[in-house]
Amino acid sequence: MGNSHPGLHPYERIALDDKKGGAMPYGLSREEALALLRDYVKNENMIKHCLASEAVLMGLAESLGEEAEKWGLAGLLHDLDIEVVNGDLSRHTIDTEKILREKGVDEEIIHAIKLHNEEIHGEKRTERLHHALAAGETITGLIIATTLVYPDKKIGSVKAKSIKKRMKEKSFAASVNRETIMECQKLGMDIDKFAEICLTAMQGIANDLGL
Ligand SMILES: [Fe+2]
Repeated sequence: MGNSHPGLHPYERIALDDKKGGAMPYGLSREEALALLRDYVKNENMIKHCLASEAVLMGLAESLGEEAEKWGLAGLLHDLDIEVVNGDLSRHTIDTEKILREKGVDEEIIHAIKLHNEEIHGEKRTERLHHALAAGETITGLIIATTLVYPDKKIGSVKAKSIKKRMKEKSFAASVNRETIMECQKLGMDIDKFAEICLTAMQGIANDLGL
């Protein structure tokens, strides 16, 4: 995707391109994807998690010279069936695959979404998008938890080095899988750079996240 609107967050640029009736190379426009997400996910915190994952994936794509629109859709839609399966991780992503295939969504996006829950598919993550989605959606939880222990609870105040510090503190946000976050190394990034990119991406949508 070319940067036709410099100065705007990647997220806003995609929305602008949608309004202009721009090309839709991945099967769904960003607007349609968000509407689909809202059809299936009612919990606002989960919607925020999906928006955070979208922003993070777009930030990573831009930094790596990958397709931000494609990576953003993977982030936005990765937990589409979480309420359908009622949080049962042994079924999570199976319905998403069916729904997205019916919508004609790009197969590489669907594959990456499946493999963010690789345990149930008997297949390992291999591509950059696979690792980016798994590590990126996971670090959003650590970034939010870190924000909430800052005195002002504002994501704009958070420093990347705090994320790194909390990363090492295993009892902090203990459900956040550090090993998955460390898949950032498969993107050729150390945790410092990865945390910085993901934090900056989420700071760019602070209002949407209510942080
Ligand atoms: Fe997720």
